[in-house]
Amino acid sequence: MKILRFLLIILFYFPLSIQNLIADEAKMLKGLEIFNETAACAGCHTMKAAGAEGNVGPNLDTVDLTLESVVDMVTHGLGVMPAYGEDEILTPEEIEIVSTYVVNSAGK
Ligand code: HEC
Repeated sequence: MKILRFLLIILFYFPLSIQNLIADEAKMLKGLEIFNETAACAGCHTMKAAGAEGNVGPNLDTVDLTLESVVDMVTHGLGVMPAYGEDEILTPEEIEIVSTYVVNSAGK
C-alpha cells in the first residue's frame, strides 16, 4: 500500500511540476519579448542574456536588482527612463513579467 501511495503522489505531482516549468518558461519568453520589443528596454540598457547593448541607462548586468526595485523603476521611471506604469505604456501584468525576466536574466 505504501508503494501505491507513493505512485499516486508521483502521478499527481509530476504533471504539476511540468506545468509549472512550462508556465515559467512561457513567462521568461514573454519577458524577453517585452524587454526587446514592446517596451524597448534594450534600446537603453545592456543585458547580455537578451542580446541588449543599449548605453543610455545602466548596464543591468552590473547593478544589484530585486523584483521590487525593478517593478518600482519600470512603473515610475526616473529621468529619461520612461514611467511605463504611470504613463500606461505597459499593464501592471506586463511590468511584473518583464521585471521577473530582468531579475532572473541580469548578470547571466
Ligand atoms: C530611454 C531610455 C530607457 C529605456 C527605454 C529604459 N530605461 Fe531603464 N533606465 C534608463 C536610465 C537613464 C536609468 C538611470 C536612471 C537614473 O538613475 O537617473 C535607468 C534605470 C533603470 C533601472 C535601475 C538600475 C539601477 O541602477 O539599479 C532598471 C532596473 C531599469 N532601468 C530597467 C529598465 C527596464 C526593465 C526597461 C524596459 C521596461 C527600461 N529600463 C527602459 C533608461 C532607460
